[in-house]
Amino acid sequence: MNTIFPVIAVDGGAASGKSSTSRALAARFNLMHVDTGSHYRAVTFALVQAGVSPEDTAAIETQLAKLQLGEEIDGQSARISIGGKVPREEDIRSDAVNASVSPFAAVPDVRKFLFEYQRSQATVAERSGFNGLIMEGRDIGSVIFPDAVLRFFLEADEATRAARRAKEGQTDSIAERDRIDSSRKTAPLLCPVGAERIDTSHLTLEQVVDLLAGHIEDATGLAPVQA
Ligand code: DC
Repeated sequence: MNTIFPVIAVDGGAASGKSSTSRALAARFNLMHVDTGSHYRAVTFALVQAGVSPEDTAAIETQLAKLQLGEEIDGQSARISIGGKVPREEDIRSDAVNASVSPFAAVPDVRKFLFEYQRSQATVAERSGFNGLIMEGRDIGSVIFPDAVLRFFLEADEATRAARRAKEGQTDSIAERDRIDSSRKTAPLLCPVGAERIDTSHLTLEQVVDLLAGHIEDATGLAPVQA
């Protein structure tokens, strides 16, 4: 039995199944769920609204200094707020944000801006009475919580991922985002050494959730609060 507050990192490319899996695991073990992709999306939306481009690092720095970050707990998930407001899903998942989030996420100042905030979510989860934190993204097991009790890296072939996004009714160039996310200098998308690498292409969501749940029970001693 682990006595430290358990943090579980779930990384992977776009549409690899991270969000659905993390949400289901959060419900099963009463973990607080944090989607760090939504953090980059919210910051991108704010910067685009301010008329800033990803190349203009001076303007990015100026605008970031004006953004006051917080969170609102919504059921099992903590959602980022900026200036006291949680940005709307339709704004942060718009085509414009889909197209510019990877270039903004490659800017070191943007990543630095979110680092402490993301680390602080473990305290928020503990204070709010959850059994642990499950955080999904691209660099959670490598940069944000390299010390997490469990680190998963989910993969799926491109056809499966494109079909998942199409089912959600989203226009998203998954391959292009993954190319930018994997090739950037700061905190690239990669499977961290020692992480559990899982290919979800031929597994149902339920099978992936059960597989990860087994690892969580073994590593943390947590028991499901919901099957
Ligand atoms: O998970 P998502 O597809 O909503 O993430 C949107 C973008 O945010 C993704 O293309 C890269 C960036 N991102 C990141 O750089 N680091 C993270 N930890 C999470 C997301």
